[in-house]
Amino acid sequence: MGFEQTKWVWHNGQMVAWDEATLHVSAHALHYGTGIFEGIRCYETASGPAVFRLDAHLDRLLASAAVYELELGYSREELTEVVGQVIERNGFASCYVRPICYFGSHSLGLHAKACPVEVAVLAWPWAPLLGAQGQQQGVRITVSPWVKFHSRMMPTTSKACGQYLNSILAVRDAYKRGFDEALLLDSDGNIAEGPGENLFLLKDGKLFTNDESSSILLGITRDAVMQLAADCGYTVAVRKLRLEDLLTADEAFFTGTAAEITPIREVDGTPLSQGRCGAVTRKLQEHFNAVVHGKNPRYHHWLHFVSAPVEKLANAAD
Ligand SMILES: Cc1ncc(COP(=O)(O)O)c(C=O)c1O
Repeated sequence: MGFEQTKWVWHNGQMVAWDEATLHVSAHALHYGTGIFEGIRCYETASGPAVFRLDAHLDRLLASAAVYELELGYSREELTEVVGQVIERNGFASCYVRPICYFGSHSLGLHAKACPVEVAVLAWPWAPLLGAQGQQQGVRITVSPWVKFHSRMMPTTSKACGQYLNSILAVRDAYKRGFDEALLLDSDGNIAEGPGENLFLLKDGKLFTNDESSSILLGITRDAVMQLAADCGYTVAVRKLRLEDLLTADEAFFTGTAAEITPIREVDGTPLSQGRCGAVTRKLQEHFNAVVHGKNPRYHHWLHFVSAPVEKLANAAD
């Protein structure tokens, strides 16, 4: 699924038609990656589209903007409103939402201080990153020859445009070698994360994941899964993870907004959980799916309901 269904984009304070949401080739962000962004999912629920953990995503967006000294010029309340408007205006029942804030065109000196700050919110329907089949049956991953950049090189807890070149190299290498996804180690040889996902593993009934000391982005899905795992009676230990921990794990899975919960069934030819999705991973997927689709009232506070999905709009026009 591409952008064909997106008719409207919010750009610098206005809702504009898709074709008008453009920027100049001299934009600072195009040359140096000086922008920050978020990746958010909106799910279909019985009460209309609902954005999952919008508050947490906006917190991270604002924190990333502060690191790179991008003054958004819009409050979190305004951005909350805009996200809802973009979903509603496009008539999406469910979609992926991409707010982005970047330095526009003024000069190409490295210090972007006089460049205007532009803000856009884009949305489109997007299937699970590693495919519906990958999500059901698990993915085959490979340890990347590319090392995850250390958090002292760039703040890994920020979601900045230029930082993703590291992930892009890892994904490209993994695809070329016939794998579904890459796994990056940190500069000490510990597991860091996937190019766009955090990692969990299960060993002897206990879940493990790592943290920012392994140069990861602190995923919002990771945080949700830690809470949902506790509901299912699992403890989650946060510690550095070695590749041996993964290779001897009973189960492993990736988490991320785009990938949701995707089982890992093989690491460089070594099968995990007999080469299938493990039972605990499946249980967490089911719990997660119920939560994001509004079927678990305990987690309604994680959902930001958007008032009118396309069906309701169509009926209103009748
Ligand atoms: C590098 C990286 N790690 C982890 C994640 C997972 O984060 P989240 O669950 O907040 O989407 C992402 C996706 O945003 C990512 O790009």
